[in-house]
Amino acid sequence: MVELTLPASWYVDVSVWGRERRAVFGREWLFVGHGQGLSEPGDYVACDIAGWPLVVVVDDGGELRAHHNVCRHRAGPVVDEGCGRVPSLVCRYHGWSYGLDGRLRAARDFGATDGFEPAEISLRGALVEGWRGLVFVNLDLDRTAPPLLEALGTFVDECEPYPIEELVVTHEAQHDVACNWKTYADNYLEGYHIPLVHPALSKDIDVKRYVVDVDERHRWVRHSAPARDGAVSSGCWLWRWPNLALNLYPDAMNVERYDPVTPYRTRLRYSYSFRRPGDHDANEAVIRASAQVTTEDIAICESVQRNLQSGTYDTGWLSPKHERGVAAFQRWVRETVDN
Ligand code: FES
Ligand SMILES: [Fe+2]
Repeated sequence: MVELTLPASWYVDVSVWGRERRAVFGREWLFVGHGQGLSEPGDYVACDIAGWPLVVVVDDGGELRAHHNVCRHRAGPVVDEGCGRVPSLVCRYHGWSYGLDGRLRAARDFGATDGFEPAEISLRGALVEGWRGLVFVNLDLDRTAPPLLEALGTFVDECEPYPIEELVVTHEAQHDVACNWKTYADNYLEGYHIPLVHPALSKDIDVKRYVVDVDERHRWVRHSAPARDGAVSSGCWLWRWPNLALNLYPDAMNVERYDPVTPYRTRLRYSYSFRRPGDHDANEAVIRASAQVTTEDIAICESVQRNLQSGTYDTGWLSPKHERGVAAFQRWVRETVDN
């Protein structure tokens, strides 16, 4: 039975976006970043995923903590987006200061008043866990989130042969893309478009032997294709619901985090890690090949998004041969949002 795509309205409607924010991004384990920059108390990384402003910080005892980056006074940010090291979390608006554990320490120059107990006020928290040097958070809106390893399930075994911890991050990139996060994910989850959209990649890999495997239970997808001689693009491209792409090569790794921004905008955060960080020429070749593919993907995804918004398309057909990954992803979206 040929499956149909999600209707175009799912890529456009603000009401779907609101449901996805809570049902997908409010409940699932979300990839945040590498733990390499989170070693000393006060080290933090702050991000905004689907309109959830979050900060992961190392507390005074050396443990990772996750807080909503939303001050309890009048919703200012307690750190700017990005990463760094701070002694405490001081709101950028009026200067309320929170400990790294999220507890309010001082409400700057607030004035004495009844019914205001600073000792009882904390930033709202989220769950945080690390796996092989990668950090994930879960907003756990239902208070039913399984531990990270249980949620990752067979994805853990799949990554086992790769030396993820031995690689050093040397390069980061960010791309703002004018499309819904699902438009980008759909595109990532099939190799059907490669001969048309990626002519150079198409020469590097054996497209006829391109394989997509889907793990329905733990919601991840693997693409693999043998490289032709001398190409840098061989490897295993993994994608894990809902916002992580992990491209593993024998001596390198490229990690992508999807940050949905609005129904029509997605920010991609890339990092590149290498086993031999000093091997600039070889590493640059990997980064260049990846950047080329990304530029091509962004262009086609932005065109598709415009067409989804045009009102002239509702649903289409998914190829049983090439688009099983897309069909699975769209099923997961539907199941999660409709639940
Ligand atoms: S909003 Fe944070 S101190 Fe006012
Ligand atoms: Fe692509």
